Amino acid sequence: MFSLEEITIRKASLEDYTEEKYEFIYNWMSQVADYLYFTPKRERMEKDRIRFLASLESNLTVVAVTNDGKVVGQCQLFKSDSPKLSHVAKVGIAVAPSYWRKGIGTALLRKIEEIAKSEGIIKIEAEVIAPNTAALNLFKKNGYHQEGRRLKKFNFKGSLVDEIEFGKFL
Ligand SMILES: CC(C)(COP(=O)(O)OP(=O)(O)OC[C@H]1O[C@@H](n2cnc3c(N)ncnc32)[C@H](O)[C@@H]1OP(=O)(O)O)[C@@H](O)C(=O)NCCC(=O)NCCS
Repeated sequence: MFSLEEITIRKASLEDYTEEKYEFIYNWMSQVADYLYFTPKRERMEKDRIRFLASLESNLTVVAVTNDGKVVGQCQLFKSDSPKLSHVAKVGIAVAPSYWRKGIGTALLRKIEEIAKSEGIIKIEAEVIAPNTAALNLFKKNGYHQEGRRLKKFNFKGSLVDEIEFGKFL
């Protein structure tokens, strides 16, 4: 059971991503950008915000929000348009560094899995780069199993590193 009193885990709404709030999210995302497939760039922030708002309609998004309305964690499920792939979805997750190791990542995953299951998704997949010990442990601890490995898939601080593919049946 998630018990961090000042944090609420819930579905995201458009109001969570006003210009001011998005700047706060963009700032902490930039701090963890080495591990993300998404690359924040200050000059593209507003474009990224608009694109993200549009994606909220199609990609299930769960957020961890402080009592004063700041998003300090975010988890998204990406679904394919193909009806042949409608039973699976890919997950992406990030938590603001000052909130790490408090159970927020786990709580976000559990919430998104619960909603995904209720919507008929039977399997969630995740891609994590090999040097990302925190994410590797998070997924393993939450029942995700390694299904594959793509060699030299990702440029991590100038070195080409492998990507580990995880899957979990709900
Ligand atoms: C991965 C991430 C989302 C974890 O979020 P979190 O809120 O700290 O996760 P939790 O507190 O629920 O931790 C769950 C488990 O993950 C593992 N873990 C989390 N952080 C870890 C770290 N720094 N080192 C080793 N294991 C770690 C532990 O097994 C932990 O359980 P424990 O605290 O009981 O030992 C967070 O570190 C993050 O945002 N990283 C940057 C972005 C990123 O890598 N996203 C994933 C891309 S695929």
